[in-house]
Amino acid sequence: MTPDLEINGFKIYERFLSLEAQEAMVGDLRDVAKRAPFRQPVVPSGKKMSVRMTAAGEFGWLTDGSGYRYSDLQPDGSGWPEIPDTFLQVWDALSGVSRRPDSCLVNYYGEGAKMGMHQDRDETDMGWPVVSLSLGDEAMFRMGGTNRSDKTKSVWLRSGDVVVMGGEARLAYHGVDRIKFGTSPLLPKGGRLNVTLRVSQ
Ligand code: SIN
Ligand code: MN
Repeated sequence: MTPDLEINGFKIYERFLSLEAQEAMVGDLRDVAKRAPFRQPVVPSGKKMSVRMTAAGEFGWLTDGSGYRYSDLQPDGSGWPEIPDTFLQVWDALSGVSRRPDSCLVNYYGEGAKMGMHQDRDETDMGWPVVSLSLGDEAMFRMGGTNRSDKTKSVWLRSGDVVVMGGEARLAYHGVDRIKFGTSPLLPKGGRLNVTLRVSQ
């Protein structure tokens, strides 16, 4: 499938998810959050991130005082819920690979939340793509290259958009400058959910 936009290797599929699919996904994420509650992560420097985070799959991504890592256990010692099928279907449609993800990271952006420029590099094999879904409010997504100093471009991601980060984009810097709170009716309390599917091990 041809992306609607391709920027620095980031493939952007606009409105790939129907409204029905988005609503089903929000319901699935509510079930995930019942078993794996959202937490406000702390980065190794001790600062709290502005997003809230949870995960599904064999492995969840954690950050705390001791660093970034994938873990098969939640901080309270329980396992993670399974990755909902609705997300696996998107992976199958757009990832271009047959191996399935073992990790599904869920970020919630409330009013004022953002995510600094970073690379996704805690996975064992960075040859596998990352598939990223947007649900809810619009977000300004910034994309650079593999060096922090590379020139960046940004786009507004909207509810239902899917971004595939593979090839040259797999290790490219990216982040979310800000969200436009209240621009989507999908989440009753507003905000944005971002779901990333990854092969972590
Ligand atoms: C991330 O890079 O983990 C999040 C990207 C996004 O929220 O769109
Ligand atoms: Mn990322």
